[in-house]
Amino acid sequence: MRRPLTDLRISITDRCNFRCVYCMPREIFGRDYQFLERDELLTFEEITRLARVAAGLGVRKLRLTGGEPLLRRGIEELISMLAELRTLDGEPLDLALTTNGSALPVKAEALKAAGLGRVTVSLDSLDEERFQAINDVRFPVSRVLDGIAAADAAGLGPVKINTVVKRSANEDEILPLAEHFKGTGHTLRFIEFMDVGSSNGWQLDEVVPSQEIVDRINAVHPLEPVPPRHPSDTAKRWRYRDGSGEIGVISSVTNAFCGDCSRARISAEGQLFTCLFASSGHDIRALLRSDASDDDLADALGGIWRRRDDRYSERRAEFTARGEGSRPQRIEMSYIGG
Ligand code: GTP
Ligand code: 5AD
Ligand code: SF4
Ligand code: SF4
Repeated sequence: MRRPLTDLRISITDRCNFRCVYCMPREIFGRDYQFLERDELLTFEEITRLARVAAGLGVRKLRLTGGEPLLRRGIEELISMLAELRTLDGEPLDLALTTNGSALPVKAEALKAAGLGRVTVSLDSLDEERFQAINDVRFPVSRVLDGIAAADAAGLGPVKINTVVKRSANEDEILPLAEHFKGTGHTLRFIEFMDVGSSNGWQLDEVVPSQEIVDRINAVHPLEPVPPRHPSDTAKRWRYRDGSGEIGVISSVTNAFCGDCSRARISAEGQLFTCLFASSGHDIRALLRSDASDDDLADALGGIWRRRDDRYSERRAEFTARGEGSRPQRIEMSYIGG
């Protein structure tokens, strides 16, 4: 299976100001948790060099993630460095950022000025009490909505909103969320709850299948499918028949999309992962800090990518049937980004 590498997702910090219960539960990510030290993180120069080499191998999209990427000091400077890079065709790269939105009211304008293209905001509930219970740091939902508005006003829109749906937690918000964003120009995307990492207590019966999500919305607001932009896209698109915009569903559990997966991930400390569910990474920081040339780096990246045979989501059912013990150890989402 030969899948081109077109999408590089770069985690720039493993820290987050939220403690979402399914991602960084307090019992594990508490006061004593050892986050990465500053000198362990890739520097902006190292990240930019790596991204330049990756662009030379065909990468067209860079997504900055975390943790919460807006916690990394000086991120605007990094963005301005990445905005200078070009694809093999000489185009600027698609430069995106995944954020919990909390800092957007303050940072949106500076991010846009630095050259950021667009943002994706995670938002799992519109209900104040529930939202604060999920983020577990009493962060108000109104502030995230302000962040989305600020991003839009700064020219970073239309914004994508990512909602993880978990049966017992927020399935009753599917319709309210859809209605909130219908007609705004923003695209809401529902994500099936996944077994990333080993600390979120994933159970198959907590997954709400995308088909059910589409059915529920379609019953009230008729939908029709929209053809995919790229075969490797994570989300299946649906548009409202009344022309008031579109939604997406990301079905990693019920309809895995490994076949065209073109995404590589680099952790904040420079470990390269060829799958969101990988057990281990490849130490690119060591290479970046050696006397390896850009060509050596390109050979290493290209070689790792050519050898990959990841298709975790397609094999998930096997692991689920055989029991939790058969599931390989997985890295945490907060370490590698979404
Ligand atoms: P766009 O270019 O804006 O469409 O972004 P994207 O869909 O590539 O990225 P985004 O970070 O918005 O992805 C949304 C969610 O899909 C992530 O938070 C993950 O939960 C999930 N996801 C993204 N990439 C993968 C992947 O390669 N495998 C699996 N299983 N899930 C993924
Ligand atoms: N399943 C699906 N999505 C998840 N995210 C975090 N944990 C999971 C999970 N177990 C999402 C966040 C955010 C993105 C970075 O990943 O909600 O939208
Ligand atoms: Fe929540 Fe995202 Fe932070 Fe994880 S990284 S705790 S999902 S805000
Ligand atoms: Fe790609 Fe791994 Fe996700 Fe499959 S599970 S789509 S191989 S990152």
